[in-house]
Amino acid sequence: MPESRIIVALDYSNETDAWHLINKLEPQLCRLKVGKELFTIAGPRFVEKLVSTGYDVFLDLKFHDIPNTVAQACKAAAGLGVWMLNVHALGGRKMMLAARDAIQTTSTKLIAVTLLTSLDKEDLAEIGLPGQPADIVQRLAHLAYDCGMDGVVCSAQEAIQLRQTLGHSFCLVTPGIRPADAHSGDQKRITTPAQAIINGAHYLVIGRPITQAQDPVLTCERLNAEIAILQS
Ligand code: C5P
Repeated sequence: MPESRIIVALDYSNETDAWHLINKLEPQLCRLKVGKELFTIAGPRFVEKLVSTGYDVFLDLKFHDIPNTVAQACKAAAGLGVWMLNVHALGGRKMMLAARDAIQTTSTKLIAVTLLTSLDKEDLAEIGLPGQPADIVQRLAHLAYDCGMDGVVCSAQEAIQLRQTLGHSFCLVTPGIRPADAHSGDQKRITTPAQAIINGAHYLVIGRPITQAQDPVLTCERLNAEIAILQS
């Protein structure tokens, strides 16, 4: 079985609900993402416990601070044994280089968030970033690449160009994924899992289509199979 490209977003407000899902899933079926809400409630011991059950964990805390603080935070996060963690590319070159340097000797993947998809053209202009959001994403992704990041979080639409310009080993992690038969929820620009892989995504962050499915295991298996066909 090829390794799963699915990262399930554990967007829960408490540990009990998270374990309810985790105990149904298997580390071979998917990886797991812990974000700010669950981490703030459940903390580092929860993350360590997840890691010890064999899951690859993406700690999605999007660090953004002065270089030294981010470097130390990355070191602490990598020390929990997580598979992947992230910083904001908007923290700039010095911050990303410090983060890279801090976890150079670990196997934890370090990726950068380019632009938050919640920011539109007007929001960006207001904070001093005029221009097309897509161009800013490209610029930040190239900066992240230059700083030795292992990849970026981006939309599946942005993945096409980034894959062409940054090559195959740069990791593209894409949220906003909806199976063809799923509700879009609050996601505006959605892509099917197959299309995201075709566009060049390495990993797909999927929340509600799996966490709220009647049978999350079956849903995960189906999505893995859909992706595996494209890889064969
Ligand atoms: O439930 P859903 O599949 O929409 O969850 C997507 C996950 O990806 C959530 O954890 C959300 O915070 C995250 N995400 C996103 N869009 C981004 C970055 C992260 O939806 N641009």
